[in-house]
Amino acid sequence: MRGGNPGNGAPRGNGGPRANGGPRPGRPVDLSVECGGIRSPNPFWLASGPPTNTAGQVMRAFDMGWGGAVWKTLGDPITNTASRYGAIDYQGRNVAGFNNIELITDRPLEVNLREIAEVKRRYPGHALVASLMVETRDDWRDIIRRTEDTGCDGFELNFGCPHGMCERGMGSAVGQEPRLLEEITGWAREFASIPVLVKLTPNITDILDPAMAAQRGGAHGVSLINTIKSVIAIDHDTFSPIPSVAGQGTSGGYCGPAVKPIALHMVTRLGKAEEFRLPVSAIGGIHTWEDALDFLLMGASSLQVCTAAMHYGFRIVQEMTRGLEEWMREKGYSRIEEFRGRALPNYEEWGDLDLNYRIVAEIDPVLCIGCQLCYAACEDGAHQCIALPAGTRVPRIKQDECVGCNLCQIVCPVEGCITMVEVERGLPKESWNDRVAAGTAGAGGRH
Ligand SMILES: Cc1cc2nc3c(=O)[nH]c(=O)nc-3n(C[C@H](O)[C@H](O)[C@H](O)COP(=O)(O)O)c2cc1C
Ligand code: SF4
Ligand code: SF4
Repeated sequence: MRGGNPGNGAPRGNGGPRANGGPRPGRPVDLSVECGGIRSPNPFWLASGPPTNTAGQVMRAFDMGWGGAVWKTLGDPITNTASRYGAIDYQGRNVAGFNNIELITDRPLEVNLREIAEVKRRYPGHALVASLMVETRDDWRDIIRRTEDTGCDGFELNFGCPHGMCERGMGSAVGQEPRLLEEITGWAREFASIPVLVKLTPNITDILDPAMAAQRGGAHGVSLINTIKSVIAIDHDTFSPIPSVAGQGTSGGYCGPAVKPIALHMVTRLGKAEEFRLPVSAIGGIHTWEDALDFLLMGASSLQVCTAAMHYGFRIVQEMTRGLEEWMREKGYSRIEEFRGRALPNYEEWGDLDLNYRIVAEIDPVLCIGCQLCYAACEDGAHQCIALPAGTRVPRIKQDECVGCNLCQIVCPVEGCITMVEVERGLPKESWNDRVAAGTAGAGGRH
């Protein structure tokens, strides 16, 4: 993460205040969580997808440390295409973004139900959620009753799939239509006696609209995000969109590391909305414990992971768990509830940010390797505030001109070489909204 400043710029894992003046470090750590009435020994659940296709996979995942799993979406078994996945590699990072045109389960319902029952019997303390997607009210009644008999802990209604199922009036076709979403959520609540989570599509204008519909429909919680509708790339020899099916392609669902900021924004949006009161199971690009922590700090009650498990296998959860535990020990937290949502008060709309706050860049000449990437970035892409003094490769920041945009720090390849330091101006906080209220938001205040 780059772009820190004196207010938030401590290295990941070391920054941030302690809650309530600070519990002592060294206390035992309890990672267990509860989300919409569904309990699990840790917040890490496998999201509905290929890793949760079979009992063998889910049991292996639980053995490796996952706290829960949302089964691959059940419904009328479908026929998938070959191929069905695509990925973006970005400057040496394999699978920076992932794309799929896969549909829901292709296995018979009876087989899935038998396996869910077996997993629940053998792992009673883990969270096992059944993802569902069917069409009519009768279909919902039928599948809910049959699935509940497995002993699973809850349902997740898949109103998110952006391809294949939406053409049949399901998936994102429901997630994009709040009235329909509310109605079907209401059916699920009527037929189910266990918790109902609603999985939301990000392919909408404002995530609060479908989230409020889920709340009105009686959901116990929401899960977000499902995949983002996307065309990932074109094959430059065959001219087929990727993934290619006999030389043709279509829009699919985007996920993986690239989508995390979008998911984090949407989780934050719900965390800040006072009228929205349901717990959130956060999904989207979670690959590291730091990703996981971001979502918890923005109020998530549990976390779901798909692409990272597909990329690295189930063992990735061990890194996530260890990292989160170590951070909690270092901060003196013993339970997730002690810091869940801790960053939400620090999120403001742009109009409430302090326009009088000022920082400038500072280069550590000892760490600098003289690559001058910062110079090129500021000269061509920012505010021409870096000079190249004669006789040295180490640039010099013209601090009286620097606008504190962070760009040089972001591009600098040496961690800690450029820091952003606060310039004390002795001015009180003044936001754009303050200026509007005072009638002083003239042309000089515009950006
Ligand atoms: C190949 C693939 C298949 C998926 N199938 C389902 C599905 O059947 N039901 C569902 O609700 N979500 C499905 N998803 C979406 C994931 O559960 C998850 O919401 C999304 O991938 C974002 O998380 P991630 O960035 O950790 O992958 C699928 C995702 C992928 C990559
Ligand atoms: S980008 Fe960083 S390392 Fe390179 S010249 Fe600038 S300060 Fe030095
Ligand atoms: S913070 Fe922005 S304006 Fe200041 S030196 Fe760096 S790139 Fe230039």
